[in-house]
Amino acid sequence: MNRQERSAYRFGKSRMFLNVLLCSVFCLPHVTGRALSTLNTNGSSDVVDVKWLEGKPALNVGTTFGLPWSRGKYPGDRVAFSASTDDGEDVTIQSWVTSRWADGSIKWTGHAIPGSASVPDGYKITASKGASRQIRRESIKVDDAQDEIVVDTGKLKASFPKSGNVLVGSLSTPSGKVVGKNGKLVLQSQSAVPDTTGSSAKADISYYQLESKINTTTIDEDTSVRTLVTVRGDHRISESESTATHDPWIPFTVRFYLYANSDTIRVVHSLVFDGVADKDFITGIGLRFDIPLVGEELYDRHIRIAGVDGGFLNEAVRGITGLRRDPGEAVRVAQFEGKKTPDASTWATTVSSRLQWIPAWNDYTLTQLSPDGFTLKKRTKAGQSWVKIPGGTRAGGLAYLGGATAGGLAVGLRDFWKRYPTSIDISNAATDSGQLTLWLYSPAGEPMDLRPFHDGLGQDTYAKQLDALEITYEDYEEGYNTPQGVGRTNEIFIRPFESTPSSDELATFTEYINAPPVLVPQPEYIKQTEAAGTYWDVPNNTTATPAVQTLETHLDFLNKFYQGQVEGRRWFGFWDYGDFMHTYDVDRHVWRYDIGGYAWDNSELSPDLFIWNYFLRTGRADVYRFAEAHVRHTSEVDIYHLGPYSGFGTRHGVQHWGDSAKQIRVSTPIYRQIFYYVSGGDERIGELLHGLMDADKTFLTVDPRRKIREDNGTYVPDPTAIDLDLGIDFSGLTAIWLIEWERRGPRWEEARSKLKEILESLGSLKNGFVTGLGLYNINTGEVKPPAADPENKGIVDVTHLSASFGLPEIVAQITHYLGDDLPASFDQAWLDYCYYYGASAAEQTARYGQAFGKLNLRQGHSRLTAYAAKRSGNATLAARAWNEFLSTDGFAPTAPWSSVSLTGSQVLTPVDEAAWITTNDFALYGLAAIENLAQIGDAL
Ligand SMILES: *[C@@H]1O[C@H](CO)[C@@H](O)[C@H](O)[C@H]1NC(C)=O
Ligand SMILES: *[C@@H]1O[C@H](CO)[C@@H](O)[C@H](O)[C@H]1NC(C)=O
Ligand SMILES: *[C@@H]1O[C@H](CO)[C@@H](O)[C@H](O)[C@H]1NC(C)=O
Ligand SMILES: *[C@@H]1O[C@H](CO)[C@@H](O)[C@H](O)[C@H]1NC(C)=O
Ligand SMILES: *[C@@H]1O[C@H](CO)[C@@H](O)[C@H](O)[C@H]1NC(C)=O
Ligand SMILES: *[C@@H]1O[C@H](CO)[C@@H](O)[C@H](O)[C@H]1NC(C)=O
Repeated sequence: MNRQERSAYRFGKSRMFLNVLLCSVFCLPHVTGRALSTLNTNGSSDVVDVKWLEGKPALNVGTTFGLPWSRGKYPGDRVAFSASTDDGEDVTIQSWVTSRWADGSIKWTGHAIPGSASVPDGYKITASKGASRQIRRESIKVDDAQDEIVVDTGKLKASFPKSGNVLVGSLSTPSGKVVGKNGKLVLQSQSAVPDTTGSSAKADISYYQLESKINTTTIDEDTSVRTLVTVRGDHRISESESTATHDPWIPFTVRFYLYANSDTIRVVHSLVFDGVADKDFITGIGLRFDIPLVGEELYDRHIRIAGVDGGFLNEAVRGITGLRRDPGEAVRVAQFEGKKTPDASTWATTVSSRLQWIPAWNDYTLTQLSPDGFTLKKRTKAGQSWVKIPGGTRAGGLAYLGGATAGGLAVGLRDFWKRYPTSIDISNAATDSGQLTLWLYSPAGEPMDLRPFHDGLGQDTYAKQLDALEITYEDYEEGYNTPQGVGRTNEIFIRPFESTPSSDELATFTEYINAPPVLVPQPEYIKQTEAAGTYWDVPNNTTATPAVQTLETHLDFLNKFYQGQVEGRRWFGFWDYGDFMHTYDVDRHVWRYDIGGYAWDNSELSPDLFIWNYFLRTGRADVYRFAEAHVRHTSEVDIYHLGPYSGFGTRHGVQHWGDSAKQIRVSTPIYRQIFYYVSGGDERIGELLHGLMDADKTFLTVDPRRKIREDNGTYVPDPTAIDLDLGIDFSGLTAIWLIEWERRGPRWEEARSKLKEILESLGSLKNGFVTGLGLYNINTGEVKPPAADPENKGIVDVTHLSASFGLPEIVAQITHYLGDDLPASFDQAWLDYCYYYGASAAEQTARYGQAFGKLNLRQGHSRLTAYAAKRSGNATLAARAWNEFLSTDGFAPTAPWSSVSLTGSQVLTPVDEAAWITTNDFALYGLAAIENLAQIGDAL
């Protein structure tokens, strides 16, 4: 920043914030507790350092990040945030609250900084109490008119219509050149796929061409540093096409992020599949822009397509290099470098008199149908043969079309090759209006086939399905294996240019879009605020004993191994990228990608929490990127966003949506919480978190216990007495409510009320969590004793899964959040569960009248024991926890803790193998190690 800008924006403009303000004024008295008496309410200020995750990036086109704050530190709304570079130069900042403590004080904030020509190593963010300086220069101009929104960042201007099929009306450069128009979504699909066994002839297939239809285009209230335009709609048959008819489908939400002083738009494109798997086969999902090329000579029009590792295809529509006659070196060099060629009168006439004989290349296509290779081709026009261009391995995912004088547009897709099949089309480049289409799903690939992978194998009763579970570990039931309602989010970047840029500049930009720079505070600071959980600590090499160092080495190994497996096992693809697999097949040397519940992991036993907490404690970039890809996958693909299973997720399986176990344990928002806050409140994740508020109503449609209940023929769910698992369902529901409450979302008071009700009522069950099941009232949150124990005499029903989906973490958060408002009976119920799960049968019997029976996942449950040990300060119990961690089940200290390289005919490609690893143990060992070290590290 070379401008002396100063901003201390006392936020108060955004709609969400107004709600927050009202609530913190009027609602605060209801939640005051003794915790408030320890508030530090003096007039201090804080300066927090944020640094780039991967070190100083080459570009800063504006970014958003999150910061945590200690409870009570900034109690009111009169907090001013200001920012400077670490060299002390003032930087404009936009700030908003993403989360509040129970007492109303600020827990997390989001901040946006503008683009800048030079990039500092980091920033210092200052929070000051009481101040309400409003010195702020609006660098973004926004015109929110009746039919369109126009945004001018100072470095680009974009218009966003409020109706019709065009999401981006026009894109122009500061000098006023329009370099992109009519940006719309395109979708194509077909009603069937030709079956090689001959069942559906090609003639029976209908083909559909659809495009975006806008329902709403909206803009956030505060647009000062970052303007967010959100467009929602669906896809409809395009009026110009005379294809078969199709109902509107594939709802989309596309978010355009524009930063002050930035020449780049970040686009977050989210869709939900609402089709029918055996009737709707998508053959292409794209974003298309028209690029005006009027008046630009064909030899001054440039095609740039990113190849491998910063490489580029550098071509002109009418190439004048390599010809039999030479136009002159200056002409050749100018064209190759994308500069305006010297006036044609200066060229050798041997060339200038014969330009009409040189083919003009109208169309280019790059296609990435696998993570290992892409192909390229071009043609002069439709009806003529394509000419092959040598391709490569992994394309950078960016293309530019434009001219030396007219300017042009670059569009790129993050993780292009990782999300194959993808492609980029440039078309009509030899006409007055070229097109650039970025395909998030390539029409050159096979139709997207979301049908079940088997026909049911005759499993037409629960008894047969349960028996099949015994062999393939798949929990099958006809009709439940539907993709209807799953989603996917992609990130796209758009950048107008005044003239064709150098390919080095485009290479830098390609690098940028594939790892958009992230600002993060230091782990020690996050830890100290206690705003991201109190159950992890920052490793300290100086004080670490050899035993602690060994654990750290193991955690490091596990993270690197899984990151490496993504590459080695090619865990890539439109729907798959971001997930990993559940169990390994030691005989075939492959992960069990084709065996029921052993294939895609779908967050089984909380690997999400392991990798995010590992990021928090280390601040490591590789861990962040791994966790980021994972959260984008699990939050979208493994969960239903509409339809009968809305709000539930799917158990692990061969297809992400295939298993018939639909549960809140998979959709639980605690898995997205850290990313949400660290990212400054990623709006897509935010809407998914809030979207779970009615997940409990899905119990009325889907009974998770249907296959095992005795009254399976007659059971009709009663909304005031749903069978609720006090482990896996309880942890999901309470996470939904705590997060809605701390975000002060639109239904936060309802969330708080239900949360308090469930805590109180669980605490009054005779055996607390040990009860296993309760009767849940959807309207109030209350749980009553199970049907088998109407008089609350006490039931003992403990399973290894109850605490395995984020229960210890959400209870720790709730306990910390409520402070002295936590019902003591609830606290005791949890401490009892933590103590007795791993206690001896004799102790269990003495306490509950009977033993819990044989329980496993004891390594993972050692973190519950550790919690009880920390709370009671009981050293014997701490020792018991470490013993459970080191010497029961899971990964043993004597495990190899290494992988081996496999080559030769036993494997398809050379791979690293750790046959002793399972993802269940990866998750549990990782989480337990982190939490045990934080809670009872001294006892190791
Ligand atoms: C204000 O709070 C800070 C942080 O807790 C503390 O170090 C400082 O002494 C306090 N100042 C006053 C004047 O109370
Ligand atoms: C269109 O937007 C309106 C207003 O937000 C909403 O009520 C309606 O459900 C939306 N329609 C569709 C098809 O999404
Ligand atoms: C219901 O459960 C009983 C006992 O487990 C079983 O015999 C019956 O087949 C089940 N009903 C269905 C529809 O599977
Ligand atoms: C590590 O521990 C040493 C000794 O207690 C302490 O001086 C140092 O500040 C700690 N480092 C971190 C990063 O916490
Ligand atoms: C701790 O040691 C590991 C391994 O030697 C090293 O990679 C890491 O950077 C060290 N961490 C700190 C905070 O010094
Ligand atoms: C501490 O934990 C041990 C091991 O579980 C237990 O036997 C003992 O009773 C506990 N001590 C206290 C004071 O609770």
